[in-house]
Parts: sequence; C-alpha cells; structure tokens
Amino acid sequence: MVTAYDYTMASLCDAGGVDVLLVGDSLGMVVQGHDSTLPVTVDEIAYHTRAVARGAQRAHVVADMPFLSFQVSATQALENAGKLVKEGMAESVKLEGGVEIAEHVMRICRAGIPVLGHVGLTPQSVHALGGYKVQGKGDAAGRIIEDAIALQEAGVYGIVLEAIPPDLAAQVTAAVDVPTIGIGAGPSCDGQVLVCYDMLAMTMGHTPKFAKQFAQLGDQVRGAMAQYVEEVRDGSFPGAEHCYKPNTPKANLVVA
Ligand code: KIV
Repeated sequence: MVTAYDYTMASLCDAGGVDVLLVGDSLGMVVQGHDSTLPVTVDEIAYHTRAVARGAQRAHVVADMPFLSFQVSATQALENAGKLVKEGMAESVKLEGGVEIAEHVMRICRAGIPVLGHVGLTPQSVHALGGYKVQGKGDAAGRIIEDAIALQEAGVYGIVLEAIPPDLAAQVTAAVDVPTIGIGAGPSCDGQVLVCYDMLAMTMGHTPKFAKQFAQLGDQVRGAMAQYVEEVRDGSFPGAEHCYKPNTPKANLVVA
C-alpha cells in the first residue's frame, strides 16, 4: 500500500504493482502544506479520491476519513463514509481510533462499506498524544491490542499499525485474524504502507526514520528546474527540435 493523491501518481503506483492506494489525510501536509492533518475536509478527500480512482486500473482505493468526520456519531460516520464512496469513488474507508469508535465502524460496515482501521500513532490526535511520537511503549501496549481486537469485532478488513515497536506489532498481528499493514511498525505486519512523497524523497521537511527512500526524485526535480531556467535564460531552449515546421510564406515564391 502507498498513499496517492492524484491521477498521475496513482497511475504510476498502480503500474508498479501496488495493491492498495490510500488517499490519506496526510494530503493536508504533503499536498496542502499544513503542519498537521487536522484542517482536511471530507470534500477535499472526495476530490482527490476521484482523481486517484481514475488512475487505479487494478489497485484497491481507500479514502481516509478526516478529523471530526466520523467521531461525532455513528450516523455522521456513515453519512461521510457514504459520501466518500458515492462522490469520491472510494472502494473502502479508513478511520483512526480503536475501542472508542468501534460502534461507528460497525455501522459503516453494516451498510456494506468496507473499513480499514488505524491504531498506534493516530495523527488526528496529535495534540492529545503530545506530538508525532512512537506509541504503545510499556503499559500502553495492552491498549493497542485491545483497540485492534475491538476493530476486528466491529468488522474491519484490515488494520494500519503506525509507529509502534516491532515486537508489539508482531503481538497485534498474532492477536487478530485480519491483515495488519505497518508504517513504522517493523517487518512482522502482513503488509506495509508508506507516504508516496516520503518514499520518493520529495518532501520539504523531516523524513521519518521508517520511511526508506526508494528514489531521490526531489533532487531530480530541483535539478531539472534549475537546468530549464538556465536554458530559457541563455536561449538554448527551445531548440529547433522542439519547434513546429516554419510557415514558409507563399509571397517568397518567384512568379515568372
Ligand atoms: O494519511 C495517511 O497517509 C495515513 C498513512 C500514514 C497510513 O494515514
């Protein structure tokens, strides 16, 4: 699984064999430039999900439910999940949280919308968690296992485990029957997810420890832009090979 937010990136990820495209609310940070995911709206997720769905030939498309789009009531959660499926063309939705949202997850699942859970570091709770920190250390580990079990009982088809120690991720994976998908949760999860801009080294700020950079596209984009600017300024671009055929005026022909 990787995140994608637009048609072109979704098409490339799909062609590369990625199984699941997540339209994450991380778009608030990497696409919109906010310092958290909190300002993202349901309409914005729906807009980006429609673009991603057009690029997904075979990958499954999951839309993230943004902050306060599902916590208020089970009815609110179902209405917004429905909107992401009807208007956003999502095939499933992802919700952050555990025991406290299990009833809302159940209501969405019962309406026929598949739900992906998300426990551990839940970025929508960044202020309550005191920052983007590793979760589940010490006694807090038991709570994460309880959350995962509650989500499974509510009907999720999988659970994202974010920023927890690898041994705890292994315990959660053993405790539930549904697949776990890790991000900063080590190798014992059933699958992995990364933010596409992190794995392609296209971010402006800090790259998390767990985000392996599989390409250096940020450097390549900067280099390409610098070369373009230089060639436009010195007149070497556009060259003859980038121009249409000259329009030879008939007036130049000599009539005998
Ligand atoms: O919004 C997002 O990109 C996510 C992933 C980090 C799992 O939730």
